[in-house]
Amino acid sequence: MKALVLSGGAGTRLRPITHTSAKQLVPVANKPVLFYGLESIRDAGITDVGIIVGETAAEVEAAVGDGSALGIKATYIPQDAPKGLAHAVLIAKDFLGDEPFVMYLGDNFLLGGITDLVSDFTAGDAAAQILLTKVPNPKQFGIAVLDDKGNVKKLVEKPKDPPSDLALVGVYMFRKEIHEAVRAIKPSARGELEITDAIQWLVDKGLTVKPHLVTGYWKDTGRLEDMLECNRAVLETLEPSNEGTVDSESKLIGRVVVEKGAQIIRSTVSGPAIIGRNTKLIDTYVGPFSAIYHDCLLEKNEIENSIILENTKITNVGRIEGSLVGKEVEISGSHEQPKAHKLMLGDHSKVVINT
Ligand code: DAU
Repeated sequence: MKALVLSGGAGTRLRPITHTSAKQLVPVANKPVLFYGLESIRDAGITDVGIIVGETAAEVEAAVGDGSALGIKATYIPQDAPKGLAHAVLIAKDFLGDEPFVMYLGDNFLLGGITDLVSDFTAGDAAAQILLTKVPNPKQFGIAVLDDKGNVKKLVEKPKDPPSDLALVGVYMFRKEIHEAVRAIKPSARGELEITDAIQWLVDKGLTVKPHLVTGYWKDTGRLEDMLECNRAVLETLEPSNEGTVDSESKLIGRVVVEKGAQIIRSTVSGPAIIGRNTKLIDTYVGPFSAIYHDCLLEKNEIENSIILENTKITNVGRIEGSLVGKEVEISGSHEQPKAHKLMLGDHSKVVINT
């Protein structure tokens, strides 16, 4: 069994972070979301992993390398443009050969791993196995309709008028028939080769597509709110630990992880929260559900329910909540006259100033 992990695409919903970075590398509890998927694949006993990369190939390759640190062997498959999930299968044919494989969307987060699903699939003879979960917003996903016996009858991608609330989770298992399917389908109205259409092709040919209902935690981390929610869910599972230095005037309350080289000076961290390696907190309050990545400096602020990426400096700004701040950002407070906000924001930035 092989794996195909999709880490290309455009990531428009997470702009401006994704103008410069891969959305799959945004950290959840200080670990890139992509790594959770790669670890689940490894834990299921699959080591031969093809990774689809697009514009952000260099960054993904720098993070994953040859895969050995994650216990896998990574093969990079460049995609010239995000032409769809089925297009990714099409261009991965040489890597996949005729072996069964699991396809994992690099921005999907599934708590609990895929080990049982992979062994279920390999034990059976279905042409495909899909994962489904009930969602409150079915217009935003691929949607499945099951018949009375619980078999997959119909699949539609992001329907305007959803026929059910069963969304396709971004983890799929396929046997070799999918290669014929991705060659047979035509691009959708949005110009992509849709994997939902390829799976529908399998259903129409009378092949077995096995549905599996996911009851555990799953999130497509494509939007800010989802990213923060996922971060909250993972932080709640962390074991507290302290490999940094915490001075006598500081307090760690509850489930807090302080990574190597981090310094907590006259500050309070109220968990669940994680403070990254070599990050410095001075006279700062970090509240629940915050993940501060490595090499940051936070001085004289309050931060809660937020994700802060590496090398960012935040000083004297009061309180920040519900935010995702990119790499090497500087946010600072000032008492200078005139009393005005001074901004240099990248394209598609979003700032809410509480006046
Ligand atoms: O998250 C589950 C949903 O994922 C499913 O319910 C949908 O049926 C499925 O189409 C997909 O929808 P999204 O709109 O969320 O897909 P997105 O464009 O975000 O792409 C998913 C991942 O695949 C993401 O990590 C980027 C990558 N990708 C995407 C495309 C279109 C590629 O590597 N190449 C591509 O051509």
